[in-house]
Amino acid sequence: MKPKILVTREIFDDVLDYLRQHFDVADNQADTPMDAGTLAKNLADKTGAMTTLVDRVDAQLLSGCPKLKAVCNIAVGFNNIDLGACSKAGVMATNTPGVLDDSTADFTWALILSTARRVVESDAHVRARQWKGWYLKQFLGADVHHATLGILGFGRIGRRVARRAMGFDMTVLYHDTQPADAATERSCNAAYVSMDELLARADILTIHVPYAPSTHHVVGAPELAKMKPGAILIHASRGGVVDDAALVAALKSGRLAGAGLDVYENEPALNPEFLAMKNVVLTPHIASSSEATRHAMAMLAAQNLVAALTTGRPPNLLNP
Ligand code: GLV
Repeated sequence: MKPKILVTREIFDDVLDYLRQHFDVADNQADTPMDAGTLAKNLADKTGAMTTLVDRVDAQLLSGCPKLKAVCNIAVGFNNIDLGACSKAGVMATNTPGVLDDSTADFTWALILSTARRVVESDAHVRARQWKGWYLKQFLGADVHHATLGILGFGRIGRRVARRAMGFDMTVLYHDTQPADAATERSCNAAYVSMDELLARADILTIHVPYAPSTHHVVGAPELAKMKPGAILIHASRGGVVDDAALVAALKSGRLAGAGLDVYENEPALNPEFLAMKNVVLTPHIASSSEATRHAMAMLAAQNLVAALTTGRPPNLLNP
C-alpha cells in the first residue's frame, strides 16, 4: 500500500502525476484554502504533506497527525512551520531554496523600476482617459541609474538583486548579520556597511531577509526615521519584517517618496491605508511567480517528499 499524502493547494498536473507514482494522493486542485481545522482533519491519517506558506504547521496540528513523517513546503520561507514542534514530533520539514532566486530578484527589479518611475500610477492615468497631452513635468519620478541601492539581507536573492544593479551603474551597499567574503562582494560590486549607514545612504532600500522572531519589524519606525528623506522602500521578502503601520506613517509624512511591496503583515488583508496611496506599488506576493519557477518549486517540494518518505534524506531538510 502506498503512503497517504495531502497536497494542500493546487499544483501542476505533472507534479501531481509524479507524486501519484509514489503515494496515495489527496489533492486540492479546487484550490480552496484550508483553515486550521480543515487542515487538521485532512492531514490526520497522512504520512506526508506538501504545504504552502499559508498553511500553519505547529504543535497543535501535529498532535492530531500521529502518522506524519514529512512536511514539504512549496516555498523557500518556512516561518509557517514550527521546526521545533516538527523535530519533537519526528516530522521532517523541507523548503525549496535556490530555484526561485533569479525570478525573485527579477521581480524586485520590477518593483524598483515601477515605483521609482511611477509606471503603475501613469498606466492608471492613461487607462482612465485622463491623459490630455505631453507636459514637461508629467509623472516626474526618481532616477534609478547612478543611485545608491541599499540591500538589507545579502543571501542568495539579495546578491542577485545586487548583480542586476550593475547595468544601472549604481552604488550598491548591503547589510547582513555577517559581511560576505571579498570575492562575493567583488562579483556583486557591493560594499558592506552598518545598518545605520545603509539606512542613511540608500536612495532605494530593498529588503531580503527571512521572517523569524529575530527579524520581526527589523524595519520599523526607528529605522524608517533614519532613512534618507525621499528614499524608496522595496519589500519582497516576508510580511512582518517591515512594520507596515510605521511604513504607512513614513509614506504619509513624505519622509519616503514611495514603496514597492509584494508582501504584507496579515496577508491578504493588508493595511488598507496602502490602497489609497498612489506612490505605492502593490502586488500580491508573486515575486517568485514565473511559470517555470513556480513549477520548479512545486517539483522540488515533491522530490523532497519522495526522498523523505523513501530514503529519509530529503535534499532540503530543515531540521536534521
Ligand atoms: C515565497 O514567499 C517563498 O518563501 O518561497
